[in-house]
This record gives sequence, C-alpha cells and structure tokens, in this order.
Amino acid sequence: MDENTALQPPDSGSAAPVADAPRWRDLREWLDLLRRHDLLLTIDAEVDPEEELGAVTFMTARQHGAPALLFENLKNNRSDARILSNMLGASKERYALAVGLPPGLSTAEMVAATRKLMKRRLPPIWIGKDEAPVNEIVARGEEVDLTRLPVPKFWPGDGGRFLGTGDITLTSDPETGRINVGVYRQMLHAARRIGLNFVAGRDGLFDVEGWWARGRPCEVVVAYGIDPVLFMAGAQRFAAQESELDVAGGLMGRRIELTKAEFVSLPIPARAELVIEGVLHQGDAEVEGPLGEFHGFYSGSRLAKPVIEVLALHSRRAPILTAALMANYPAGEIGAYHAIMRSARILENLEQMGVPGIQGVYVQPAAASAMCMVVVALKQLYPGHAAQVLALTAQCPAAVYCTKWIIAVDEDVDPTDFDQVMWALSTRCNPADDLDVLRNTWTFRADSSLPAQARPYGSKVLINACKPHRYLKELPVRTLLRRSTYDQVKRRWAELGLPGSPPAVASFYEE
Ligand SMILES: Cc1cc2nc3c(=O)[nH]c(=O)nc-3n(C[C@H](O)[C@H](O)[C@H](O)COP(=O)(O)O)c2cc1C
Repeated sequence: MDENTALQPPDSGSAAPVADAPRWRDLREWLDLLRRHDLLLTIDAEVDPEEELGAVTFMTARQHGAPALLFENLKNNRSDARILSNMLGASKERYALAVGLPPGLSTAEMVAATRKLMKRRLPPIWIGKDEAPVNEIVARGEEVDLTRLPVPKFWPGDGGRFLGTGDITLTSDPETGRINVGVYRQMLHAARRIGLNFVAGRDGLFDVEGWWARGRPCEVVVAYGIDPVLFMAGAQRFAAQESELDVAGGLMGRRIELTKAEFVSLPIPARAELVIEGVLHQGDAEVEGPLGEFHGFYSGSRLAKPVIEVLALHSRRAPILTAALMANYPAGEIGAYHAIMRSARILENLEQMGVPGIQGVYVQPAAASAMCMVVVALKQLYPGHAAQVLALTAQCPAAVYCTKWIIAVDEDVDPTDFDQVMWALSTRCNPADDLDVLRNTWTFRADSSLPAQARPYGSKVLINACKPHRYLKELPVRTLLRRSTYDQVKRRWAELGLPGSPPAVASFYEE
C-alpha cells in the first residue's frame, strides 16, 4: 500500500460504548447471551461437515424459531475448530440481541429502530497485537494449513468445500485508503489457496481491480469466524466511500477493535475467531463454484475466479468458524436480519430522495431470502404518489439488485404482515390498470425464470395495491372496528380469558 493511502490512524474518540450499546464484545460473549435466552443449541455428537452439517442446519432451521447451532465435534477435523451455523437465520430475536434492541419488538418496530442505528457511525480503534484475542495462535507462510480445519460442503452439488460463507473480507481503496468490508463466498482450493467469488458491482471488486490497475497485488484480510454485527454490516450495501467498520461500530454502539497485521497494511478485527492475511495476484485464478445459494439454486458455474494466497493465519484457541447455509427462507442464513436491515436502508433511500408520506417498508424474507419483494406503505398525498413511490423504490440503491416485485399499499396495511398485503393485492389492485413492468433490470445469476443467455438482465413489476386515487370518493366502505369498542375489548382481554395479547390495530371506523 502506498504511504499516502495507508490505513488512517484511529481518531482520538473515546473507546467507551454509547449508553444503549449491546452488552457483548465478540462472538463468544454474544453466544453466552444467546445461551441465556435459550437461542443456542450446542451439538456434541460427531457431525460430518461434508453435507451432514448442511442437512442438520437446513432441517432444523426450516422450523421457525430454530436456535443457532454450535457444532463442537466435527468428523475428520484435524484442528480444535468448531462451527456455528444458523447464527442469525430467521430469528429476529437473535438480530435484536446482536444490536441491543429488545427482542420482543415487532418486526415493524425493529425496522424503525434499525434505521436509527444504521445512521450512527463510530470509527474503529486500534489495540495492541498482544491484547488481541485473535493473536492467541499465529501461523506464518508454510506453517499455515487450512485443510486441517473442518470446512463444510453444504449441498451435494457444491463445487467444493467453502471456508468462507459467513465470513468478512477487508480490502482497501488504493486511492483513499477507505477499508471496505464485504461478505463473499470462498472455496478452499489448497492449504494456502482460497477462491474468492465477486458479483459485478461489489465495492470489494472495485478495490481489487483498482490495485491491479496500478500493477500491484491486492491485499486482503478475511475473518472466517466473526461476530454477527460485522457480518451483517459486511453483507449490506453502503456508499462506495463509506467503511462498514464505521457502520458496524455504530450498530454495536462501540468502536470495533482492530489490530495491526504482520504482512499486509490492512487491519485485523482483533476479537475475530480466525483470520487470514493474504494477497490476490492479477491472473492467479482457479475454477470455483457452484454453491447452493440464497435463492435455492446452485449459482456461479464452474468459472476461474481470483485466488487468495494466504500469508498468515491468526486464530483464537478452539476458534468458531461462522458458516452461513444458503437456502430458502427460513432455513438460510440470509433471513430476518437481512429483511429488517434492507427495509431500513430502502426507507433511508426514499427519505434521501425527499419522497413524502412513506409509512413503512418491508422486504418479505420468503421472497428468495429477502431479495425479491419490497412492500411500501404510504399515505397517498397527491395524484400519482403511489406510482412515484413504486418507481423510485424499484431502482433505489438498496433495492436495485434482485428485487422483482414492488408493491405499494395504503397506510392501513402493515407491510410486515403478508396476510394484510395479500388482502390489499386482492381488493385494491386491478391488474389491468395497476401493473407496470420495468425491463432490463438487475436480477441474480441463477434466476431460473430466464434463459441462461438473458441473465442477469431481468425485469421488475410495479404493483399498485393502494386505493385508486382517482376514485377515492366512490370506494366501498371498509369494515373496521369503532375505536372505543376496540379499546374496551383490549381492556377486558384478560377478564374474558382471551388467548395471547390483543392485536395492534392501526385504522378504525370513521364516525
Ligand atoms: C452469506 C452471504 C454470502 C454472500 N456471498 C457473496 C458472494 O459470493 N459474492 C458477492 O459478490 N456477494 C456476496 N454476498 C453479498 C454481499 O456480501 C453484499 O452485496 C455486500 O453488500 C457486498 O459488499 P460490497 O458492496 O461492499 O462489496 C453474500 C452475502 C451474504 C450474506
């Protein structure tokens, strides 16, 4: 790295966490928190990382409310490493415990709270190499042998064993020194060689190409066992010049602790479980993939992809590798957290564009792991308002990739409640008038609705399921409760012996 682009020193800000920061500092402390909430299952019996671990995770996580799974005893393991799967998965409670929200909040409340958390930025701080737990064990050069680790092959048709799925990869912008954090799958090729798979448009890929364009190898630091907040921040899209390290600090309410690496200029997350330092040389590529992915198909045909040459391995004792099973919701790792964070990002984008009247956004998790359907609730304020919201949502930065279905509903419909959304689609949408299609948009590489040569150019449909604005005065009257009666029944709920708690109701009969 050039001197003028070297990693910026940390600012002089305080290391103290903000008042509402979650009370954990790393993956192990967060797992203790999960244990206390009965959200973690430790499996001591031997499990084969080759397909069996994937099957156990898939079959368990198909049930809503499934715990995170810590596999302590892995077949053919030549190390003391363990594997955590279903880290966050479909659990909004585990997400809440990661970012310090009350786990009992509704999904809509979590989206609103997340929006605020995602605005906060806290730059990282340095700690000394000796203080960094990730330096408990350090192997250099030929001493590194990643084949000793239990590396999962998740699905029968996977092209190999994937060390990186629930990982984070750090790269730097050769011009500005900004550190990018991204989650990219990584297939193990050999003791010190790992394949790296980028989709077009990733900031991490721009960094790599930037170094290569200067005739220099690209340095990387990759953590294969990482806490949930760094993982989640790495998996979201942020503006190219923003560092996800600052975002993660903001989400955590405490600065991410970094320590200096030995061979590269990039920092190492000091509390990670297992980290490599490496370089990507231009032209060094090996055939990688496919991997069973978030949409439920194998993706990434067997193509030559860049290879990381590993220079050093830093690890805690008995490190925990974070493995993200990619599968249909609710069994996949990209589940509740992603739906909440992506919804918050879309809300943010709409606000930045100055769109008024937005009441809520929810990316439905069952739509290919929260990638393909966005529901926006709005209070219609002027003619064409719903059409404007649909068009701007469809192509906003947080929604542009993969999204196929954009649905606008009125403010009396909760976008997080699919039953209500279906009702709006069935009663307020006249397909002949209320659908528009955008063509040549960005879909995923394994979109099975398209012939191979057409991908990844897809389409998006804009569905107006709001009350038709031009006929507002002539609409049939909706059956709603009188507010005073609702309040009365709510008060008498326990007296009447009714189950659970009274449902929240947003709109009432107009007297
Ligand atoms: C478990 C998981 C695996 C992912 N695998 C890949 C991948 O292999 N390649 C890729 O380009 N993006 C992958 N993504 C998506 C990126 O992490 C995500 O788009 C991120 O915002 C990219 O960061 P960047 O734009 O800063 O490069 C994955 C996300 C998750 C959660």
